[in-house]
Amino acid sequence: MIDMKTKIAGIELKNPIVLASGTSGYGFELNDFFDVSHFGAITLKALTINPRVGNKPERITELKNAMINAIGLANKGIKHFEESIIPKLQNIDTNIIANIAGGDIDEYANICDILNKQEKISMYELNVSCPNVHSNGVVFANDPDALYKLIEKCSKISAKPLIVKLPPDIFAIEKIVNICESAGASAISLINTVPAMDINIYKKKPILANNFGGLSGEAIKPIALRLVYLARKATTLPIIGGGGVNNAEDVVKFLMAGANAVSVGTLTLKDPNASYKLINELAILIEKLKANSVTEIIGSLELNQ
Ligand SMILES: Cc1cc2nc3c(=O)[nH]c(=O)nc-3n(C[C@H](O)[C@H](O)[C@H](O)COP(=O)(O)O)c2cc1C
Repeated sequence: MIDMKTKIAGIELKNPIVLASGTSGYGFELNDFFDVSHFGAITLKALTINPRVGNKPERITELKNAMINAIGLANKGIKHFEESIIPKLQNIDTNIIANIAGGDIDEYANICDILNKQEKISMYELNVSCPNVHSNGVVFANDPDALYKLIEKCSKISAKPLIVKLPPDIFAIEKIVNICESAGASAISLINTVPAMDINIYKKKPILANNFGGLSGEAIKPIALRLVYLARKATTLPIIGGGGVNNAEDVVKFLMAGANAVSVGTLTLKDPNASYKLINELAILIEKLKANSVTEIIGSLELNQ
C-alpha cells in the first residue's frame, strides 16, 4: 500500500493532487462526476471584495496542447461567497484553499480577515499576478517592495497558512521566493499562467477581447518544472507545483523537481475524470518506481553532472 499523504504548511493532504484555482469552480460542481473529497485539496476560484464581471468575450481560445484565458477574475464577491458558497462547501471532506485576488494590499488583507472565521477554509492562496492599482498596474509579483508588504500584512492578519502563488514571468525566481519567505509566506504555489496572445490574421486583431491572456495546459509544463526546481533550491517552504499536468508521469516529475503537492488545472477543464483518475494512477506509478510513499519521491531529482 503506497502512502499517498503529503503536507503543506503543516496541514496533511490525503494525496498530493490539488485542483488548481479557476479550473474547477468551487469544487462541489464536480460532484456530478465523482466525489471531489478524494482530492488532496481544492483551490477555489478567485475571490475579490466586490463582484467582478470579468473581461468581455472572447475570454478563452484553444490551441493544440494549451489554451489562453482572460477570464479576468470573474466572481460574485466576498458577501455572496460567505452567504451562498460557504454553506455548499460543508460536505466536502478535504482541504479547501481560498484563492484571493486584489487591486491593492488592503483588499487582500480584508479578505483574509473576513475569511479567518470560516473554519471550512484551510489555507489562503494569494494570487500575486494581479495589477496593483497604486503602482501603475505593475503586478505584485514583479514589484519586490509591494510583494513584501502585501505578504507581510496578510501574514499578520491571517489565521491560516498563507500560500503565495507566483507567475512564471518574474525576474529572478530565487529572489522572489526569498522575499515571500522572509515576509511570512507559509508555502509557495507555482506556476500561474504564462502571459500570452494569439492573433486572428483575417481580422488583424488578437483573438481575445482583452488582447492578452494566460497560457495554460501541456505546453507550459517544461517552464513550470524548471521554476519549481529552482524554487525548491531557494527555499525550504512547501511548494505546490503545477502547470500543464496531463498524467501521473507529470505529477511525478513535479514531485521529483521538489513540489510537495501538485496542482491540476486545464486537464480538469478538458476532462474532469482524467484529473480524478490521476490519484489512483499516481499510486500505481509510485509502486512501479519502487517507492513506498509520495514523500520518498519529493525532491529526488538529480541533475546531470
Ligand atoms: C480558465 C482559467 C482560470 C483561472 N483562474 C485562476 C484564478 O482565478 N486564480 C489563480 O490563481 N489562477 C487561475 N488560473 C491558473 C490555474 O490555477 C493554473 O495555475 C494554471 O492554469 C496552470 O496550470 P494548468 O496548466 O494545469 O492549467 C486559471 C486558469 C485557467 C485555465
